[in-house]
Amino acid sequence: MRDISSEDIPILEAARRAASAAYCPYSKFPVGAVVETEQGTFSGCNIENASFGLTVCAERVAILTAIAAGARTLLRLSVSCPTAQESDFLAGRMPCGACRQVIAEFMPQGAEIIVDGGGVWRVDELLPQAFQLNRNRAGSADA
Ligand code: THU
Repeated sequence: MRDISSEDIPILEAARRAASAAYCPYSKFPVGAVVETEQGTFSGCNIENASFGLTVCAERVAILTAIAAGARTLLRLSVSCPTAQESDFLAGRMPCGACRQVIAEFMPQGAEIIVDGGGVWRVDELLPQAFQLNRNRAGSADA
């Protein structure tokens, strides 16, 4: 983990702007995310549903939008929960477990996740030993 630096500010500001599109009538907790790729930047916001379990987080909307556009090199991700900024409750601003697994699918282990009001973490700091399929098949010497 490292502290947020001046280079992180523009992508954090973009995540704050992305949060303004959030559809969050149930939680009233807007979240924005921006992912930087070889094909430019893609933004996402949380999109809730009356069937609560169908809600999709801002991080996944940003990443999946980038992937659907054909991007494959995901370099950096920022996330902002603008209404939580005055809080000192870090866990309330961190990517959820499901998003961490999706981040691990599409971003290199050393890529950085910039959390507004929190800090900067590497992918493998957020989800050590991420589940992967087919990397170490049964029978492999690398158990
Ligand atoms: N949320 C996100 O967008 N990202 C996360 O990593 C955690 C939670 C959203 C989902 C829901 O709309 C609201 O925040 C409250 O949980």
